[in-house]
Amino acid sequence: MGGQNPYIPEADIEMPKTKFTIRYVDEQKKEHLIEVDPEKIPYDDHGLPGSLLDIAMAHGIEIDHACGGVCACSTCHVVVREGLETCSDSSDDEEDQLDQAYGLTASSRLACQCVPNGKQNLVVEVPAWNRNLAREAH
Ligand code: FES
Repeated sequence: MGGQNPYIPEADIEMPKTKFTIRYVDEQKKEHLIEVDPEKIPYDDHGLPGSLLDIAMAHGIEIDHACGGVCACSTCHVVVREGLETCSDSSDDEEDQLDQAYGLTASSRLACQCVPNGKQNLVVEVPAWNRNLAREAH
């Protein structure tokens, strides 16, 4: 599942025009350096096209996304350590969902809603404490 939540207004998003990199730091603190090619966006079908979730999942980096990437949970919470200013603005709906995330920081975003414009390389951390009620229920 993925794509756009029909109940949320479409965000004003600037797509990247040149290649850039994202260094993901996963839940085990392992680093993955990804080169993003704008020609390949959308990579997959997870969250908004070109979102941090879309790019991560297409490169084998697992980020929880219980709602399928439609801005209806907070399990895809990530912290953008570098390059946040080159990312799409967060919507009110994203902020509402983020309020439910554990360990919220000033650089926190929902990976499925955050789309970088590629004008700077990014460092994105996947918190180990992400809340996934579905997983906790097992
Ligand atoms: S996956 Fe649910 S809000 Fe991103």
